[in-house]
Amino acid sequence: MRREVLRASGLEFGYNGEPVIRGVELSVGEGEVVAIYGPTGSGKTTILLLLAGLLRPWRGEVYIMGERLDERTLPQIRRLIGISFQNPDDMFFNDTVLDEIAYTSARIYGADVGLKAAREIAEKLGISHILNKPPYKLSGGQKRLVALAAAVAHQPKLLLLDEPSTYLDEESTERVIKLLNELKSRGTAVLVATHDAELICRVADKSYVLTGGRLINSAPSFRQPLCICGEGRWSQAPGRV
Ligand SMILES: Nc1ncnc2c1ncn2[C@@H]1O[C@H](COP(=O)(O)OP(=O)(O)O)[C@@H](O)[C@H]1O
Ligand SMILES: [Mg+2]
Repeated sequence: MRREVLRASGLEFGYNGEPVIRGVELSVGEGEVVAIYGPTGSGKTTILLLLAGLLRPWRGEVYIMGERLDERTLPQIRRLIGISFQNPDDMFFNDTVLDEIAYTSARIYGADVGLKAAREIAEKLGISHILNKPPYKLSGGQKRLVALAAAVAHQPKLLLLDEPSTYLDEESTERVIKLLNELKSRGTAVLVATHDAELICRVADKSYVLTGGRLINSAPSFRQPLCICGEGRWSQAPGRV
């Protein structure tokens, strides 16, 4: 039995009094990649922000490594989480890509460790040549890779990825998939919010569809995009969408 890294129960949340998330139950274990699939506006980003403690749920609880996320535990628990935002510009604030990637790791483990970790992850993602550039001057795909690198450099136990494949070319996508598999084997729990069905086919152990503010295991509208998975792992996993 895998150790549970993330558990959310009875999560409810909305904006301006209007509910968006209406009772989300979710669990991600060590070395497990779980995907949340859903159309634009279904609430995927909102769920990730709730799980990262960046939004406070109206109701329900989030546990990370068995510890309940609340105001008291948040500063410590944050170190266990890496998050890459749907819009990378929302998270960038450093002058160079190198500092951006190294930031969290440097704060936790010191500058030397942070910079070393940043260079290593940049190498894996094929972005070593842009380390001295300002993050805001990058292309959409480069920003996506920097956001991912910044989320993983401090080796979080839980990685939350919001639309990680947007704007990526084939080569970069392959690098990302390789990295996710590496993280999996290291025991990282990964939650991916995406509308990219192919990515789900290739990396996810388990997936949910977000509909009506709830996560469910199947939905008729989800079968169509999955045809592209062909004979892959998808069809061999009963109980999955
Ligand atoms: N800051 C916000 N203020 C008000 N409404 C929001 C805000 N962020 C998201 N929403 C609304 O919440 C719903 C879910 O959005 P979101 O979580 O971004 O979905 P997804 O990531 O699946 O596209 C949408 O209807 C969106 O318009
Ligand atoms: Mg979103």
